[in-house]
Amino acid sequence: MKSTPKRYLVTSALPYANGPVHIGHLAGVYIPADIYCRYLRLRGREVAFIGGSDEHGVPITIKARQQGCTPQQVVDRYHEMIKQSFADFGISFDVYSRTSSQIHHKTASDFFRKLYEEGQFVEKTSDQYYDEEAGQFLADRYIVGGCPHCGNEKAYGDQCEKCGSTLSPTELVNPHSAISGSKPVMRQTSHWYLPLDRYEAWLKQWILEEHKEWKPNVYGQCKSWLDNGLQPRAVSRDLDWGVQVPVEGAQGKVLYVWFDAPIGYISNTIELLPDKWETYWKSEDSKLVHFIGKDNIVFHCIIFPCMLKAHGDFVLPDNVPANEFLNLENDKISTTRGWAVWLHEYLEEFPGKQDVLRYVLCANAPETKDNNFTWRDFQDRNNSELVAIFGNFVNRAMVLTQKYFDGKVPPSGTLTDVDKAALADLRAVKTAVEDNLESFRFREALREAMNLARTGNKYLADTEPWKVIKSYEERVKTILNVALQLSASLAIVMEPFMPFTSQKLRSLLNADSATLRWDALGSEALLPAGHRLGEPALLFDKVEDSAIEAQLQKLEEMKRKSDAQAYHAEPQKALCSLDDFQKMDVRIVKILEAERVPKSKKLIKMLVDTGIDQRTVLSGVAEHFDPQALRGKQVAMLINLAPRSIMGAESQGMILYAEDFDGTLRLVQPATEVKNGVKVS
Ligand code: MF3
Ligand code: ZN
Repeated sequence: MKSTPKRYLVTSALPYANGPVHIGHLAGVYIPADIYCRYLRLRGREVAFIGGSDEHGVPITIKARQQGCTPQQVVDRYHEMIKQSFADFGISFDVYSRTSSQIHHKTASDFFRKLYEEGQFVEKTSDQYYDEEAGQFLADRYIVGGCPHCGNEKAYGDQCEKCGSTLSPTELVNPHSAISGSKPVMRQTSHWYLPLDRYEAWLKQWILEEHKEWKPNVYGQCKSWLDNGLQPRAVSRDLDWGVQVPVEGAQGKVLYVWFDAPIGYISNTIELLPDKWETYWKSEDSKLVHFIGKDNIVFHCIIFPCMLKAHGDFVLPDNVPANEFLNLENDKISTTRGWAVWLHEYLEEFPGKQDVLRYVLCANAPETKDNNFTWRDFQDRNNSELVAIFGNFVNRAMVLTQKYFDGKVPPSGTLTDVDKAALADLRAVKTAVEDNLESFRFREALREAMNLARTGNKYLADTEPWKVIKSYEERVKTILNVALQLSASLAIVMEPFMPFTSQKLRSLLNADSATLRWDALGSEALLPAGHRLGEPALLFDKVEDSAIEAQLQKLEEMKRKSDAQAYHAEPQKALCSLDDFQKMDVRIVKILEAERVPKSKKLIKMLVDTGIDQRTVLSGVAEHFDPQALRGKQVAMLINLAPRSIMGAESQGMILYAEDFDGTLRLVQPATEVKNGVKVS
């Protein structure tokens, strides 16, 4: 058994400052990290909660190019925005800094130089893709091509986002430059590599033997990396945005973003505690915990530990409680496809409801497998859990106390079995929540905390003080005393999860955080008899159907917009001759009758006037058009297509339609009415 650490160094992945943050970030990383840190502080432990923006790397330079500005302007904008969103949601960082800071450049540079001088890197020359039009090497996301594993045509030089495989640029099928679109050539360049292979034996011992307690998803990913064997990994790039490689003759080379970013944890600690940071990073009685999403596992469990080990001065992570991914309405969150719920927009649309989102995302966290956020679930959890259970219970306890006892906590008398059972739950909640939080089971911890509200709600429903008051006031005193002690316990136990609500509840109960402190949780006398409560008010309010529908509609619209933007006309077909074309007799015809073909989902049967004759034609468009809407319309039709018989009817020709980017069909019509049967040529 390890002894209790003296201090906790808790980091959360540094988000790329190339866009705002969304619910996936919050659910995967920042909410669990924040709950953990708030909890540790409530227990009186020494904690440094480190956050910051990751401001280097190719995605940022690509964004700058798209927006026609400098990378620095990109990160300046998004760093502020991200920082604000985290503050708004109560993510209680002790420091939120950035990797473009001077301290960071110096720290990362010193780190690299030490390893370089000690000969910990291998220098290698190799051929890499080079864009002759743009005049630069194509690292990581600058190169795009087909994924050799899943066929995704837009895989990047470092990763396929569709199947999640890690790639190297040379594996891409038909690679092209993300800058100019041109076909790259090979050019020689030299880089420094961290020889991960030399650390394999050590990693196997350290992770697979000594950290069997890591979450199964984390341990499993590490094991598969280690089983497949590690390769030396380049830690520099030919780019002009990043931390310069601090070596003579390394002009135009910067540190690989995944080399510098995790060092950001150290830089930001230095910024926070210029005189004390070493006690956190350099003493064995510190416990380092990295909160990350699953795509970051290899970097935090394998590469960064190798860097730390090579350096030699620093502690290694004690745990890396990575989460899986959160989906949105059953579809992968995608910032490029506009399929996301942005935190700053949420707050505009649901002002003051930070805790509702914190609650829903924790209750539904992707802790062991990918999970799904739906607006309906959000509404349900708000209305039937927060409003109907937690809020309702506290409100009833307070309103009844106001009504019967002038807002003062009544004394407790003889306890019945129901009272004792409720109080037993009150006493048990502390350990239950603590045990779960200590082992990173946040959903379960929240469930235990919420169960106390369920207990309270049921307790009032069972004891019915509003009925008993007529015959037996003494009994009601005890009931409300118990209910108020439960309410006070909720103010304490909910604090890590829902800090805003906890604060509000304390003020309703007119009790400060010294009285309602974590240590006191489990006490049956948190509020002494005679204590005057504040005015009752509701903790939560309902989320209406209209608000949910508006969100769903907004998502659909954003998706449509981005699909429209992403639309590319299909490539041209093989050439044909004028002869080929003239064989086809395309005319404007009028639809006289249209009706659905019985027992067919798709077919509509039409009678058309071709100017030559009246004939029947079938179209598989019943899912797109109401027959009513077709009647009387002039449309384009290929009239000399050989007749085919479909579901017992003969179709003499083919009506032509235009299919829009999203699959919507449109009629092809003359701009002005023409005679039936005129040629289209
Ligand atoms: N920016 C990375 C991402 O969003 C995370 C960097 S974590 C750090 O996936 F350790 F490198 F800082
Ligand atoms: Zn793939």
